[in-house]
Amino acid sequence: MMAAGRLSFRNITALAPMVRVGTLPMRLLALDYGADVVYCEELIDIKMAQCHRVVNDVLETVDFVAPDDRVMFRTCEREKDRVIFQMGTADPDRALVVARLVEKDVAAIDVNMGCPKEYSTKGGMGAALLSDPDKIEAILKKLVAGVSIPVTCKIRILPTVEETVSLVRRIEKTGVTAVAVHGRLKEERPRHPVHCDYIQAVAQAVSIPVIANGGSLDLVKTNADIEEFRKATGASSVMLARAAMWNASVFSNQGPLPVERVMEEYLKYAIQYDNNAFNTKYCLCQMLRDKVESPLGKQLQAAQTSAEICKAYGMQELFQQTQERLQARRDTLQSSTEP
Ligand code: FNR
Repeated sequence: MMAAGRLSFRNITALAPMVRVGTLPMRLLALDYGADVVYCEELIDIKMAQCHRVVNDVLETVDFVAPDDRVMFRTCEREKDRVIFQMGTADPDRALVVARLVEKDVAAIDVNMGCPKEYSTKGGMGAALLSDPDKIEAILKKLVAGVSIPVTCKIRILPTVEETVSLVRRIEKTGVTAVAVHGRLKEERPRHPVHCDYIQAVAQAVSIPVIANGGSLDLVKTNADIEEFRKATGASSVMLARAAMWNASVFSNQGPLPVERVMEEYLKYAIQYDNNAFNTKYCLCQMLRDKVESPLGKQLQAAQTSAEICKAYGMQELFQQTQERLQARRDTLQSSTEP
């Protein structure tokens, strides 16, 4: 476990950044089960730069809201010292604008340098940065100099160990606090085996903490496997994406718990924080995995609102009570601001 205070990246377990999955309910759930740090889903700098910061007194959250009123990033006090804001960027100046916008509400800023999807790479972001080390250096240096919280990045490996080590050495010199290494080439798919030897070579070559990633499919299935993966890679820490998405209790040394229970706990947070219903549904479907065609899965897939999702899980009462509690808070807040 991590001591309170400035975020440490040594000997920790992390919930990996995951688009659509890494919203507030999943992050809080992972923390409950024992993750030390939690990354938000990748958020694109251009979209974030248009957001304004809103204190949401009803939900007791801080929201970053887009001009069309969509909440792009929602966070709360509970995760303030643990949440890492991951952004997609290819522009040092814009990256800094966004980092400063969220700096007071998060524990660290991370730059995505591993996403191979076209929407990321066509803008020069994600894995496209791996072939532009000058750009990497410019972004990271600007962030390190411009914010008062730790800056990190997440990369994929390059074709050879030597190239990978040399890139991470260059990254280390920018002053970043840690680097997460997903042990796959950008051309490799999630089903391909992870290259622990590359991560190990990087961990030996630099003195900043290395966070090993990529072990979910074949190496990390239980909590005990996390330490095995850490040892196999010689890294300081471990970051999990899919294993945590499927069952977040993998972070618990009491776990894994039955996924039905994990889904219920997830849903409680989703209701409490008024999570977007389609996002909630997406995450629950990921947890159901091959049970997505079960009666519960079918009911979930048919659901269009948070109320319908709760009904599928027999949690209508909790949904109703939460709505009433939030409405009462809204009313109180409104009457206290009226003249
Ligand atoms: C990801 N991944 C990812 N990576 C990243 O840096 N930013 C992101 O937003 C996302 N989004 C994302 C969504 C989903 C649904 C998955 C499954 C993955 C990649 C992820 O963080 C990780 O690097 C890989 O999944 C490998 O780790 P695991 O799954 O083997 O633990």
